[in-house]
Amino acid sequence: MRQLSFIEIPKTVENKEWGTFKDSLRAPIHNWFTYPAGFSFKAVESSIRNNCIRQGQVVYDPFMGSGTTNLVAKKLAINSYGIEAHPFVFRIARTKMNWEIDEDDIFHSLREVEKRVINRKRHFAIKNIQACLEKEFPDLILKCFENIALMDLLSIRNAVLDGNFTEDVKDIFFVGLTSILRQVSTAATGWPYIAPNKHKSTSLNKNVLHEFIRMIHKMVSDIRNTVHEANVNYPKSSHEIFNADCRKTKDLIPDLSVDHVFTSPPYLNNFDYADRTRLELYFWGEAKNWGDISENIRTRLITSATTQISRDDPKYQLLDELNKSCPKVCAFLKASISQLSEIRLTRGGKKSYDLLVGGYFNDIYQMILEVYRVLKNNSKAVFVLGDSAPYGIHIPTDDLIGEIGLGVGFSEYHVDVLRERGGKWKDNPQRHGILLRESIVTLEKA
Ligand SMILES: C[S@@+](CC[C@H](N)C(=O)[O-])C[C@H]1O[C@@H](n2cnc3c(N)ncnc32)[C@H](O)[C@@H]1O
Repeated sequence: MRQLSFIEIPKTVENKEWGTFKDSLRAPIHNWFTYPAGFSFKAVESSIRNNCIRQGQVVYDPFMGSGTTNLVAKKLAINSYGIEAHPFVFRIARTKMNWEIDEDDIFHSLREVEKRVINRKRHFAIKNIQACLEKEFPDLILKCFENIALMDLLSIRNAVLDGNFTEDVKDIFFVGLTSILRQVSTAATGWPYIAPNKHKSTSLNKNVLHEFIRMIHKMVSDIRNTVHEANVNYPKSSHEIFNADCRKTKDLIPDLSVDHVFTSPPYLNNFDYADRTRLELYFWGEAKNWGDISENIRTRLITSATTQISRDDPKYQLLDELNKSCPKVCAFLKASISQLSEIRLTRGGKKSYDLLVGGYFNDIYQMILEVYRVLKNNSKAVFVLGDSAPYGIHIPTDDLIGEIGLGVGFSEYHVDVLRERGGKWKDNPQRHGILLRESIVTLEKA
């Protein structure tokens, strides 16, 4: 196994105060939508505390996702920026960050939705249901729900879309209805994807309207409790979040304006963030097929899955600028890419891991350049991420990102291992035997 000469064995951190992903599944507001966040809200709190970030200062998450970093910042009355390229996930984050919403308006609008749904139910003939659903939804959705439940979901969806409500209320209803979809589905909605052929009997005969109303009440009470616990100065803090690309933030975030970056980029592990939301996008009518999802979402995200790659696109060749600023990194990547391009031809799936590696590091390089630009001097950027070993070729993403950081101007970096991963596959001949890790990479700007 080739080793990079600059890699030292990273030390493992005492990770209790970093928590685990499960913390956010239990925490109010954070748990409105289950999303691979990369870290727990406790990790954000700990990084803010350890770096002595105070009110009036600014935290930035270039891969905001569903908004964990920004939510923590808001609660502590610290200003924040967030960028998220996936429009659907951005809307989730925007909703979670809106604590200024009018409760009376929500409940008044909720009664309207309830009335419309009950009314529609009264006037709908059971024999028309199948035809109506087939006209409305792709096959995947039809397989994931009982007809009666899906009809109720559709009625609520249409009442929300057609209702004369404020955008804020529509956002709350959008997230509320989204969050019950997997609960009321009779398909095994195994994390992170869905398995329509496996039946989940606990969802049978659930009262969908009742679940929706319960969720909206929970959301309102979560906001109320969070506001109650938040720092008294939180209303004075400012939070600018954008549905945009973190490689292109020149018009959004000024130079030298950020005191701390805390983020978790997509890992180089072939996870397709666009596909993660397929059920939800199909349900809301925001996509009807794979092509829609590619066009509207996949192409906007940094390259981290082979499903994003088209082999004749030249953009996966390592960038000249990356080569110039980080020759050692590029030499390592070129050797790995060349190995991967040979190995893929010997494997059934012929996965484009070679191009994936090139595309991933090009994109990461452009993101780090932007992070360097916006970060103030004497500040740190913290990245939580995992390494990977496509076709058994180890790519130490943590060290490589550290070295790219030095190449773009950061003065130093260090890597702390948060946890090791993948050990459970070591006896499986289909998998590689490389023990992977999840790390915290800290880049320091002098
Ligand atoms: C590991 S997740 C981060 C999740 C986040 N920590 C949270 O609290 O939900 C990585 C995120 O990066 C987003 N992303 C991918 N490419 C992006 C880009 N070019 N600009 C901004 N966000 C991007 C993905 O859509 C995904 O939501």
